[in-house]
Amino acid sequence: MPETKSLTLLRRFWRDHLQAERGRLIVALLCTLGLAGVTALYPVIIQQAFDLFTRGETEALVWLPLVIIGATSARGGFLYLQQINLQGAALGAIEHLQNALFRALTRADLAVVAAEAPARQASRFVTDATAVREGVTRSVNGIGDVLTIGGLVASMLWLDWQLALLAALLYPVAAWPITAIGRRVRRAASGMQDRAGETAALLNESFAAAPVIRTYRLEAQEEARAARAFAAWRESLTRMARARARIDPILEALGGLTVALVLVVVGWRVSTGQGTIGEFTGFIAAVLIAARPVRALGTLNAALQEGFAGLARVFAAMDAPRAIADSPGARPLPEGRGDIRYEAVAFRYPGRAEPAIAHLDLHARPGETVALVGPSGAGKSTALALLPRLYDPSAGRILLDGAEIREVTLASLRDAIAFVGQEAVIFDDTAFANIACGRPGATRAEVEQAARAARAHAFIAALPQGYDTPLGPGGGRLSGGQRQRVSLARALLRNPRVLLLDEATSALDAENEAAVQAALATLRAGRTTLVIAHRLATVQNADRILVMEAGRVVEEGSHAALMARDGLYARLVRSQAFAAA
Ligand SMILES: Nc1ncnc2c1ncn2[C@@H]1O[C@H](COP(=O)(O)OP(=O)(O)OP(=O)(O)O)[C@@H](O)[C@H]1O
Ligand SMILES: [Mg+2]
Repeated sequence: MPETKSLTLLRRFWRDHLQAERGRLIVALLCTLGLAGVTALYPVIIQQAFDLFTRGETEALVWLPLVIIGATSARGGFLYLQQINLQGAALGAIEHLQNALFRALTRADLAVVAAEAPARQASRFVTDATAVREGVTRSVNGIGDVLTIGGLVASMLWLDWQLALLAALLYPVAAWPITAIGRRVRRAASGMQDRAGETAALLNESFAAAPVIRTYRLEAQEEARAARAFAAWRESLTRMARARARIDPILEALGGLTVALVLVVVGWRVSTGQGTIGEFTGFIAAVLIAARPVRALGTLNAALQEGFAGLARVFAAMDAPRAIADSPGARPLPEGRGDIRYEAVAFRYPGRAEPAIAHLDLHARPGETVALVGPSGAGKSTALALLPRLYDPSAGRILLDGAEIREVTLASLRDAIAFVGQEAVIFDDTAFANIACGRPGATRAEVEQAARAARAHAFIAALPQGYDTPLGPGGGRLSGGQRQRVSLARALLRNPRVLLLDEATSALDAENEAAVQAALATLRAGRTTLVIAHRLATVQNADRILVMEAGRVVEEGSHAALMARDGLYARLVRSQAFAAA
């Protein structure tokens, strides 16, 4: 159960994110103090003005306007500095929070992050962060409101202490309904933020599927799905607005009651000669000026509760336990040439009844290519994912160059491995950056050399800005084969001892295919390779073939031996499960 107590959340937020902004916060608070002080003077100025004029002291006409201009300019100046510093501090803290959340999520276990739609994760950075920012700015403004009210009460006391007590006693009555409403708002806010995440996920999915939606004519279905999400979002927002809307009428009524009572008492006093018109006007002015900060304080709790709901969600995401991390005393991976051993490995995805890998023994000697083949769902991709520890096996162990992979540092393990998936992953960055990320710090010459070896140099050089050409979101400006060659260049640059390859199933045109195969041959040379094979050429060139079915190895041997055996492998080959190229 994540920690949701407001005080704990607040303490952690201050310590980890807001404290660094304390300089600006202090300036903002000082301005707030000045602001409250000047505001509290207004009723006194009004009282003085009225009393001086009723006494016919006209020389006040000269200096009073100057005092008024001075007071309003001071207020303006304070307001400006307060907002600049306050927003600066709040935005700085939010940026810090966003970075911390991103750091936590990019390092979280794959299983944890993959459990939610990417857009839902993304929405935390926007909706929750906005709620937190609002909470921060509103609290500082709230401190200002408290100070302003304090100052106004002081003015009232100075003007007429008995009346001041009467007014000051009425407002606290509002505290009770407001806290009750605050609890309601917090619940509603949490629901609203969830709905916002769901809607973002749906929109993301829908736009990403744009070609399918058009060819299958799913427009109406998608519209209905979006409409349901928007309706759920609206409903949750309405719930929140309803809860919030109760606050203002309560305060409005209380304010009216106060002014009415004060009017009656003051009117009676003035008529019996116990007070001056100035005091009377000044007092009413104080009550009216106090109405705005009191109202703001009333809704402050609601805003705070929304902020806390956001903070709780962000911290919960940050605190997801990490199972896949360096074990205590982890050493770097020992030197070696890529000797891979899976010993009685089993693995089950969380929430699945059937194991994805029931029992897997595998030995790939340095430089060997071992091909995994088998029907869909046999566990081939899962077997590969266990080596870089995207998941940890639930039983058995995996050794790389004699070291158990759980006992070496994650960084050294992953540095020794390159993975090339079925779908080439291209970042929205330049061709250079897309290859160089295989080995951060690589020079231009090294990147070019890798690109040449991956048969990618020619087409990259022909791009408008060569290696500095942005490849567009998802590499949209390249063909499928070109994308694959860029991802192969990235793997080559990494120069890993182990290559994990999930061959593309989609057929490429002959020229691209030849280029990709040539790049692959270069990449495999001298490294231990585990390849999920979809091409006959790949299995024929492999040193050994493991045939998997339902999470187990059911056949093992060379292409010729397996064909002679006439089992599952022979059936797969005969059913043309492999591309011929
Ligand atoms: N992220 C996941 N969460 C839960 N179950 C999963 C996940 N990924 C795969 N599985 C399940 O694990 C089993 C093995 O899947 P895997 O992806 O390893 O198969 P595969 O042999 O690579 O199949 P294909 O040839 O279709 O790629 C399947 O039953 C699949 O439904
Ligand atoms: Mg697969």
